[in-house]
Amino acid sequence: MAALIEARELETHFTIRGSFADRLLGRGHGFVRAVDRVSIAINPGEVFGLVGESGSGKTTLGRTLLKLVDPTSGTIEFEGKDITRYDEGAMRPLRRRMQIVYQDPNASLNPAMRIVDAVSHPLKIHGILEGRDQLRTAATDVLERVGLSPPEAFLEKYPDDLSGGQKQRVAIARALITQPSFLVLDEPVAMLDMSVRAKVLELLLRLKQESALTYLFITHDLATAKFLCDRIAIMYLGKVAEIGESQPIYAAPKHPYTQSLLAAIPQPDPSRRQVAELPKGEIPDAARPPAGCRFHPRCPKSIGICGWEPRDLIDAIEDRWATLTGESFERERSALGDLSAFTITGRAITLGGDRPEETKHLIGRVLDDHPAMKDAVEAVEVDGGRVSVVFRPAEEPPLRTVDRRDVACVLYPPD
Ligand SMILES: Nc1ncnc2c1ncn2[C@@H]1O[C@H](COP(=O)(O)OP(=O)(O)O)[C@@H](O)[C@H]1O
Ligand SMILES: [Mg+2]
Repeated sequence: MAALIEARELETHFTIRGSFADRLLGRGHGFVRAVDRVSIAINPGEVFGLVGESGSGKTTLGRTLLKLVDPTSGTIEFEGKDITRYDEGAMRPLRRRMQIVYQDPNASLNPAMRIVDAVSHPLKIHGILEGRDQLRTAATDVLERVGLSPPEAFLEKYPDDLSGGQKQRVAIARALITQPSFLVLDEPVAMLDMSVRAKVLELLLRLKQESALTYLFITHDLATAKFLCDRIAIMYLGKVAEIGESQPIYAAPKHPYTQSLLAAIPQPDPSRRQVAELPKGEIPDAARPPAGCRFHPRCPKSIGICGWEPRDLIDAIEDRWATLTGESFERERSALGDLSAFTITGRAITLGGDRPEETKHLIGRVLDDHPAMKDAVEAVEVDGGRVSVVFRPAEEPPLRTVDRRDVACVLYPPD
């Protein structure tokens, strides 16, 4: 089956202006790899889920597919046409075929526009219909389809007269009125009250059946994605960690990140309830993604080849010191000297003050507490007054097919 929309090796980078201090320290390479060589193909009639924590690049990928953001590299094909290099003029006739619904209906609806005008606006912009009566009839029809009935009761209202759920229905109606084939739904129920979320999701499914729509459904919530999606891609820091049909992934997730996300879904059955917690640590800065597998610093199953690097050692020492009491902390601190006075050169880090043997001993203890990182250390050497630690090189794990899905993790090596 030919995909409705297909991205190959898609990259979207944003240039950022790091702080002066960042630049002095050589930090922040000046851009964020919001989407980093992602390939996905969405088939007609499918609900394709994009899942991951905040900052993983879901919105950027969705907006890039619609060419609302220009890709840095890679290709996008929509309805058989390579639209990668289309400018806004060339995109214009396609815009009515591909629409987006955002998370926050308050931000996407103009408070000064009556519902009838808001909903029929795209018809005017695309020159599909004009004339007050025609636009009004089209708006009436589409409001009916999204369950705002009787539609006449809504036409003259303003967004502020409506509830959150009703506003989102209006945003959906506006996206549908040009009869698109492809809709990006960017966390469409995340801002709504619990009580109306299920109703809006059911509406989206009904609309898909009625109108032969194809969805890219973006969510940070795996439970919602399970209910809705035929296939899913789990994203982490701009990359796909696991991708495939929902059923095998939910039945037996392979990537440790997917496993952690699934374990964090609250269980409705209290006897099966467990601690809903994602792996330790914050999501790293996307401008300086971790080497190797980007998830390795937080991964409960990491091993030596996952991409351990100098800054992981600094983080481990800081974590250790956070648990120490005054006296032992002071002892270790003075042995190591100023922790911020380290130098990183490629895969090597040099640190320590004037007592290198103590520093080396301390590093040994830290590594003993982190066996995976310890495995990745090639050498710990005393060099003049300081200690240098050299890490083995590591590569980003590529996606491999395992048990009916693709997964990017060194735990699943090639045959
Ligand atoms: N316009 C932008 N300029 C600079 N950085 C951006 C921009 N939009 C998104 N980013 C960065 O790109 C990364 C991915 O963001 P986003 O696509 O919004 O992720 P998600 O939707 O998964 O939360 C984040 O690090 C974010 O800060
Ligand atoms: Mg987002």
